[in-house]
Order: sequence, then structure tokens, then C-alpha cells
Amino acid sequence: MKPRPLGRTGMTVSELCLGTMTFGTQTAQDQAHAQIDHALAAGINFIDTAEMYPVNPVSKDTIGRTEEIIGAWNAANSARRGEFILATKHSGSGMAHVRDGAPISGATIRATLESSLKRLRTDYVDLYQFHWPNRGSYMFRQNWSYDPSGQDPAAIRENMIDCLEALQREVDRGTIRAFGLSNESAWGTAQWLHLAEAGHGPRVASIQNEYSLLCRLFDTDMAELSVNEEVGLMAFSPLAAGLLTGKYQGGQVPQGSRMSLVPELGGRKSARVFGAVEAYLDIARRHGIDPVHMALAWALTRPFMMSAIFGATTLAQLDHALGAAEVTLSEEILSEIAAAHKAHPLPY
Ligand SMILES: NC(=O)c1ccc[n+]([C@@H]2O[C@H](COP(=O)([O-])OP(=O)(O)OC[C@H]3O[C@@H](n4cnc5c(N)ncnc54)[C@H](OP(=O)(O)O)[C@@H]3O)[C@@H](O)[C@H]2O)c1
Repeated sequence: MKPRPLGRTGMTVSELCLGTMTFGTQTAQDQAHAQIDHALAAGINFIDTAEMYPVNPVSKDTIGRTEEIIGAWNAANSARRGEFILATKHSGSGMAHVRDGAPISGATIRATLESSLKRLRTDYVDLYQFHWPNRGSYMFRQNWSYDPSGQDPAAIRENMIDCLEALQREVDRGTIRAFGLSNESAWGTAQWLHLAEAGHGPRVASIQNEYSLLCRLFDTDMAELSVNEEVGLMAFSPLAAGLLTGKYQGGQVPQGSRMSLVPELGGRKSARVFGAVEAYLDIARRHGIDPVHMALAWALTRPFMMSAIFGATTLAQLDHALGAAEVTLSEEILSEIAAAHKAHPLPY
């Protein structure tokens, strides 16, 4: 498992990151703890969570449960806290179940972080991320109807300054080590960078956006910003929520799978997606490579990639994903993937 820099922070993270959003719904606490043990033993040093997890479904009654499950592991393994980089997230505006949907601001950060620290049973978060911008995002299929014309750039920057100052107070008292974004745009990330460089607070270290063989919105403007500014991508849903395993081909919906819980897979189930998946499965088959390994190993070849955050509902899935770290894709496979991408652009 190769280490990669976490922006300009001096910290390093493993190229695979353990996602936790099913801990507390699909994945019970004992299984979640077994996953953390197994991931750390395999060389993963990076765990991603959020105050709002678990998901599928997100509900008022379970918000915070995933952090509590990680907290129970921390409490039982307090001597090991320094072994891994723990990332969590402050929800953005409109999350009705917490703070009545209030936007992220200097007034919400301290209390929200304190609640996460309490649930996580730790004194600090290594990477504190804003889950989505207050102004909204084009992620989660909103790119199809995205319209930024109602935004007020001056008010957005004022809120960013207020947040950066609050984040700096947390850095100063040792409760967070680095700041990251999620579901952000190139314009938004550039504003955060500019304001940090003007002295308002910590520099953005990372950006967590969706990225996979099937979701490549990051490939252009975000790629340029990410590489030139050393704001690495934490790619979420690198297996396209399970689609790239091939298990949903031919109309199959395995019992207990994500699609059995969320039939549209967050807008990823589309008319064109199964043909696109077939093209990637075909490449994997012809080259005798496992499709899960191909999807993850490909993500790791991208120039802006910091870490691919995969999910596993079982220990067997985790073990399967770990094999990707050993795989190097040939030039031939990479050029076939590029051709498949051109033939099946933006399938959802
Ligand atoms: N910032 C954000 O807005 C955001 C959004 C989404 C996710 N995330 C982060 O990214 C992490 C990963 O997201 P994700 O779960 O969507 O990633 P993913 O890696 O694309 O999908 C993982 C899911 O695919 C299925 N799967 C994985 N390996 C498999 C295998 N070998 N065989 C069959 N099925 C397999 C499992 O679902 P089933 O067993 O249920 O089918 C598993 O939960 C999350 O935990 C979270 O930390 C962040």
C-alpha cells in the first residue's frame, strides 16, 4: 500500500482509504471493528467518515452512529490512535436532521466538531472536511441541470472567511490537523485557496469528490487545479457504488445489496450505465484481471489521485478490494479503458 502526500500538510495517507458510511446500517459494529483491524493490518492508514453517517438510509435516529462505532474502536484501542489518519465531515446547508439545515459557519464549526470528537472518542480529527458547499453542488447528478446564476460571490467569500477563521482556531487548539473539501467545484476550491493564502485560515489539503470509471467529472478543470495546487483527490465511490463489480448486470439485484436498498443507486442506474459497465467488464475478462481490482487500480493511475475511498459491507469485500494495491495495469489495458470511456461518456 503506497503512501501519498495529504496536500502540503506533511502527513501521508495510503492510496486506498476505508469508507465507513455503511457502518451502523449494512455493517454491524463487530464487523465494522473487524474491518478497521483488517484494513490497518493491510497497510491502510486512512479512514473516512462523516457526522451524518450511516447512509442507506440517512435518518434522524441513526445520524452519528458511524462515528460512535469508530469511537468504540478508538476507546478499545486508544494506544493506536496515532496509527491512522481519521477524516470526518461537517454537513453542509440543508441537512434537515442536524442544526435544522443551518449552513456551515463560524458559529457551527466548534459545536459540530466537538460532537464528532465526543462520538469518535478522540481529541483530534486529522482531516476535517466540509461535506458539501452551503451554496449546493453539481455532484450527485445535479450536473445535468446545474445553474450557478443565483449565487452571490461576495457573500460566499464572506462565509468562507468566517469559516476559515473558525477552522484556524481549531488548528490552534489542536482539535483538527488539516482542512478538506468535498463535493466542491474548481471555482469554489480556488476561492478557499486564495482566502487561505491571504491569511484567513488553513489551506485546503484535499478534495473528496465522486470519481470512477463511470463518473469522470474531475478530469478537466478540477484535475488542473488539483495537480497545480497540490490538493489531492479523495475519490469516493470508485466502484460506482458496486456497479463496477458487475453484480447488477443482466437485471440482477442481489439480496441485501445497495441496489436492493436504494433502487436507483443515487441516480446511477441509467439507460446507458449497464452498457458502459459491460465495456469495462469485457476489458477485465479479456486481460484476465478482476474488475474490482481494475477499477481501483485504474483510479490510482490518475495524476491527481490522493486516495480512493472504497466501501465494503463485508470483510470479504474489504479483502477483495485490498488486492487492487498489488495490481499494475498495462499500457494496453489503459488504452482500452480510454477507448471505452470515449465510447461511453458520462453514463449517469
Ligand atoms: N463525500 C461524499 O459526499 C461521499 C459520498 C459517498 C461516499 N463517500 C465516502 O466514500 C466511501 C465509499 O463510497 P461507496 O460505498 O459508494 O464506494 P464504492 O467502493 O463505489 O462502493 C462500495 C459498495 O460496493 C459493493 N461492493 C464492494 N465490493 C464488492 C465486491 N467485491 N463484490 C460485490 N459488491 C461489492 C458494496 O455494497 P453492497 O454490498 O451494499 O452491494 C460496497 O458497499 C463511503 O463509505 C464514504 O466514506 C463520500
